Amino acid sequence: MSNNIKSILKETRVFSPSAEFKAAANVNDAVYQELLAKADNDYVGFWSDLAREKLSWSKDFTVGLDDSNPPFYKWFTDGELNASYNCIDRHLADKSDKLAIIFEQDGGKVEQYTYQELHAEVSRFANALTTQGIEKGDRVVIYMPMVPQAVFAMQACARIGAIHSVVFGGFSAEALKDRVESAEAKMVITANMSVRGGKSIPLKAAVDEALEKGGNSVNTVIVYNRTDDVIDMKEGRDISWQDAVAGMSNYHDALMVNAEHPLFLLYTSGSTGQPKGIQHSTGGYLLNAHITNEWVFDLKDSDIFWCTADVGWITGHTYVAYGPLSVGATMVMFEGVPSYPDAGRFWQICQDHAVSVFYTAPTAIRALMKYGDAIPNQYDLTKLRLLGTVGEPINPEAWMWYYNIIGGGKCPIVDTWWQTETGAHMIAPLPGVTDLKPGSCTKPLPGIDAKIVDEAGQVLENGDGGYLVIEKPWPSMVRTIWGDDDRFVETYFGMFNNKYYVVGDSAHLDTDGNYWIMGRIDDVLNVSGHRLGTMEIESALVSHPLVAESAVVGKPHEIKGESVFAFVVLNTDIPEGEERAELIQTLRGHVAKEIGPIAKPDEIRFGSNLPKTRSGKIMRRLLRTIAKGEEITSDTSTLEDPTILEQLMKD
Ligand code: WT7
Repeated sequence: MSNNIKSILKETRVFSPSAEFKAAANVNDAVYQELLAKADNDYVGFWSDLAREKLSWSKDFTVGLDDSNPPFYKWFTDGELNASYNCIDRHLADKSDKLAIIFEQDGGKVEQYTYQELHAEVSRFANALTTQGIEKGDRVVIYMPMVPQAVFAMQACARIGAIHSVVFGGFSAEALKDRVESAEAKMVITANMSVRGGKSIPLKAAVDEALEKGGNSVNTVIVYNRTDDVIDMKEGRDISWQDAVAGMSNYHDALMVNAEHPLFLLYTSGSTGQPKGIQHSTGGYLLNAHITNEWVFDLKDSDIFWCTADVGWITGHTYVAYGPLSVGATMVMFEGVPSYPDAGRFWQICQDHAVSVFYTAPTAIRALMKYGDAIPNQYDLTKLRLLGTVGEPINPEAWMWYYNIIGGGKCPIVDTWWQTETGAHMIAPLPGVTDLKPGSCTKPLPGIDAKIVDEAGQVLENGDGGYLVIEKPWPSMVRTIWGDDDRFVETYFGMFNNKYYVVGDSAHLDTDGNYWIMGRIDDVLNVSGHRLGTMEIESALVSHPLVAESAVVGKPHEIKGESVFAFVVLNTDIPEGEERAELIQTLRGHVAKEIGPIAKPDEIRFGSNLPKTRSGKIMRRLLRTIAKGEEITSDTSTLEDPTILEQLMKD
């Protein structure tokens, strides 16, 4: 790979933290040097000391890292704690009246919850879960809109030791069914409706559909009535949230669990087959969630933090449901979309709630940048002091706009690289320390042993692109793929025989030691900062009776990063004109139904075959070139039928 991945991006601008920012930062140069030295000299001691300092344990641990069975690493193994206790109860002594959540509804109505109120809401719901028969270790699927009740539900599961698996509310009934079945969930928590962009979208109906098709392990569905819409409730199975918590005590004694007890599963796309249930631990996960909110977001008691991610993604776990609460911060939650009622919504929210630290995705920044400077300029954004991005590399143009127009040229931008599997930020700036370069996620955090290696596993330090890997285990790393240890080992450690955790991204270093992420190396697309497996979209297409075969590739897209481009071989003749346009719409709708609107192909092109090697392997590289509309210059002589390319090049 080092021979063929060359970086073409050259960015020379450097932005250093101001003296003022440095002086107040949670991590300044001195602290940074200390952390680095400690991690270097005594790696396990470094993490163990942090775990004791930052988290509250009901039973101290004697083992820092158990690495007796790699790559199944365990951290703080004999310690006991509760994640929800750490996020809520321990703040009640001095922060009970501090706001934990400021929630703005799609329509603009605001609700607020202090830590005391959060404690009561979560306790009531935890008592309700127990009353409904949920026990420690049971899996609970949460399929909710972006409302505080989603966080209450997650926290309540954590309180009783139940393992939640949040399924993004934008996923289809089919996708929900697969995840419910894989986790063998006993319960689904949902809402009657999801309200976004001025529209109510039925959510419970998708649960009904999913459970009609399968998901037989589920015996209870709890429905939060977000709106007054009356929906079908199935006798004996469904109960409203409001009824479930009626009469429940405001107090619940959090159940202490082992540090390695699974806190949650979160399904994410892989390059092949079914989505993977990424399993996270309680102690290790919470530790990295906690320290990255302190280190990277520099959160202080006075901050108002807003992470725009939905709780359906890992970002909404670590930087909404757990991390900010663990550090005792005040955070904003928003139900709606950035474009409703107009493209100023994000900036209006920042202004109205005096947001000081703001975290969003490059795709949102690019979309909002399109509307020009006048919209953000109408709002008072002077309370902002730190900005962040996540999900994909941010292009320098969008970085500069974010920096100048949103941040007023005074807010550092933390470009945070991490994954569902890493649990928390891995490579990211420390805003009071790091010199920023637009487009680079800069340097690994203290204790994170990132490297770039070639195909033989040799470390590359000369600036060539290679595989991004992490050598030493870290506390918040994925523990396994739910129910599939073999796939876990194979996917993340197989390539270099357990020596490295293999990220699946390529990256290169610059001469200052900054990391530049170059993209995925597997067949995974990154659409609007979300990972989609090409294989899943292909399976969805092929499940349509008219489709014989398909290949999906990513095409660079100005706003979304990548768009979904599908090549399709039909069982019938390729239709022309209106019929063809109709079929394209049908297939797009079909994918939306099977996976969710986010996976809908932007473009579909029909061919009588796909370009394959003589051994039958689809030449995706060629398809990517065709999707981009570029000319094929590489060798095509290994193709079974080279004429197929001409056909596919015609729209
Ligand atoms: C993949 C992980 C982590 C939460 C959001 C997505 C890409 C993520 C960055 C960044 C360049 C990034 C990588 C990574 N990615 N952050 N700052 N710069 N690329 O979580 O769905 O688990 O996806 O997103 O390709 O492997 P995810």
